[in-house]
Amino acid sequence: MDEVLRRPAEQEYAAELEALRQNDQDPRPSNWQLSPRAVLAYVLGRKPLKAKIAGKSTEVAIRRKFFGDDTLVERAIVTLASERALLLVGEPGTGKSWLSEHLAAAICGNSTLVIQGTAGTTEEHIKYSWNIARVIAEGPRAENLIPSPSMVAMQRGALLRFEEITRCVPDVQDALVSLLSDKRIAIPELPGDSGVAARPGFNIIATANSRDQGVNQLSAALKRRFNYVHIPLIADKATEMEVVRERSAQLIAQYNIPKTLDTPIIELLTTVFREIRLGRSEEGVSLKSPSTTLSTAEAIGVALDAALHARYFGNGEVGAGTLARHLIGSLVKEDLADLASLKEYVTLVAKKRADGAKHWREFVQGAQTVLG
Ligand SMILES: Nc1ncnc2c1ncn2[C@@H]1O[C@H](COP(=O)(O)OP(=O)(O)OP(=O)(O)O)[C@@H](O)[C@H]1O
Ligand SMILES: [Mg+2]
Repeated sequence: MDEVLRRPAEQEYAAELEALRQNDQDPRPSNWQLSPRAVLAYVLGRKPLKAKIAGKSTEVAIRRKFFGDDTLVERAIVTLASERALLLVGEPGTGKSWLSEHLAAAICGNSTLVIQGTAGTTEEHIKYSWNIARVIAEGPRAENLIPSPSMVAMQRGALLRFEEITRCVPDVQDALVSLLSDKRIAIPELPGDSGVAARPGFNIIATANSRDQGVNQLSAALKRRFNYVHIPLIADKATEMEVVRERSAQLIAQYNIPKTLDTPIIELLTTVFREIRLGRSEEGVSLKSPSTTLSTAEAIGVALDAALHARYFGNGEVGAGTLARHLIGSLVKEDLADLASLKEYVTLVAKKRADGAKHWREFVQGAQTVLG
């Protein structure tokens, strides 16, 4: 297969999905590739399954994809089997798009029917558009219609992923109301055509950023058609460390870097992120919170940057100093005042730990080179 930077989940985890399918004995909702129980096992991971993959009997490990509250994932899956659409809401970088991709891959085997909501999204992106040159030459005919991802999802009984729905202007959001209640897209330009009706299995997984709620609130009509599932920041440290370890190792492998981060370095990175985010150190020192959200996703990004740095400019070993130097890009974005948060953290927390611990000493040194 041709090399690509990132494959969709249904390709990347094809063996896992196939193993689950072969072992799936539970009832499935119409047009679902897997039963709800198997979808849950795919998202949360489980013990290895025996399966025949490409003609060979093997054991396939089902890795955990989404970390957090298990009941939240259950609720999301149940919603997708119902009349209502699913809205995943949360802070940036909490894994909303990640969860939505995996749910779509497991449920309908296709996570690529996506509409990205922006201020420029129009009703045509949600319904259909026309190949203008051919319409001018031949008039509006069914072959000249360009279906949107929603139309394709309806025709196939698949899931549509709608990313960042609250970035769309209200008029465009309203186009979804008719789509969700009638489960049909009418094509008035084609006389006598009854439009496209959704097959069973069609539903929508939307995501919205809680920081942007104010940009364009969902209209009341649309709110009623969605079940909301709030995705919180990961509450406990051990779980967050596991996400950072797991995801950074995957990314590092993608970039052909031989060495992943050691556990003490992952722990330091997670600790720094959590303490600054919560505005409180483990010893109980209060800290200024920066204006940026220090999400788990940002921590994963810092881990990858540090690994690339160590690979190309260092000896391959990721130290706490390199981490500290890359942390600044996550912490200080628009507001230069956020530099003060990092300075304060280094003085009040990291320096105090530097005495006995090599990693914290290196962290302080690294931070001082960027803070001056
Ligand atoms: N709870 C989690 N479990 C597993 N991975 C997570 C979790 N939280 C964050 N991640 C990781 O963080 C990265 C970014 O997540 P994602 O892009 O889905 O965030 P998002 O919530 O959609 O953010 P945004 O609102 O900015 O679009 C992904 O690589 C994902 O693996
Ligand atoms: Mg997202």
